[in-house]
Amino acid sequence: MRNPDRQQNPVITTISHFVDYLGIKALQSRHPAIRRLKRQQQGHSAHGNKVWRSSFVLMDYLTTYPPKASSRILDVGCGWGLTGIFLAQQYSANVTGIDIDPNVEPFLQLHASINKCSIVFQARGFETLTQADLSTYDSIIAADICFWDETVDPLYDLICRALKSGVKRILIADPGRPPFWSLCDQCVESLDAQIVTRRIYEPWKTEKFILIIEKP
Ligand SMILES: C[S@@+](CC[C@H](N)C(=O)[O-])C[C@H]1O[C@@H](n2cnc3c(N)ncnc32)[C@H](O)[C@@H]1O
Repeated sequence: MRNPDRQQNPVITTISHFVDYLGIKALQSRHPAIRRLKRQQQGHSAHGNKVWRSSFVLMDYLTTYPPKASSRILDVGCGWGLTGIFLAQQYSANVTGIDIDPNVEPFLQLHASINKCSIVFQARGFETLTQADLSTYDSIIAADICFWDETVDPLYDLICRALKSGVKRILIADPGRPPFWSLCDQCVESLDAQIVTRRIYEPWKTEKFILIIEKP
């Protein structure tokens, strides 16, 4: 038998499946557009399967310490590219995102498109970045990129190459995994780096760490 109440007062549920943070939209894994892209792919080789929370904390940090307008910024291990998209949209930054996994690109371009900005994507490992490549950037950002022990030394080498090339600021956000602390130890000892903790309360309450290397 039909329920007359239900017919007269249909329940309308709006399911948005995205997070709106600091003026930037991040689609969640269950968003239909994301599900469609995931169905077209085989999967991700190195965890570029969502926007990671360290990105949100890094975005928040960047609201306090923003880049100069039109800065040239490299997002290493950019995944879906949200932090770079935030910098392009809010600070007119010229952002290049690199990721070893080419499958992240459609997700990055989708986010750039819904946030009405553009960033350049290159499918490559950060190990391949030469001093000449790095000399074209003012800053490097990265979120949740230091999760394997084998990544520590190549990342430290990248930081050293970047500083030699004239990059002025390097920011690496992380939940605090052991390889990240090994990288921090090397950078504090040899490069006068600092580490700060940063907490956000939305879209989730979470606290992460940011390795900061700055040169005058
Ligand atoms: C945990 S995800 C973080 C993605 C993004 N930064 C974020 O916060 O949402 C790590 C990303 O680093 C990429 N990656 C891993 N090793 C890399 C390498 N050697 N060079 C460039 N990207 C790499 C992965 O493909 C993945 O997209």
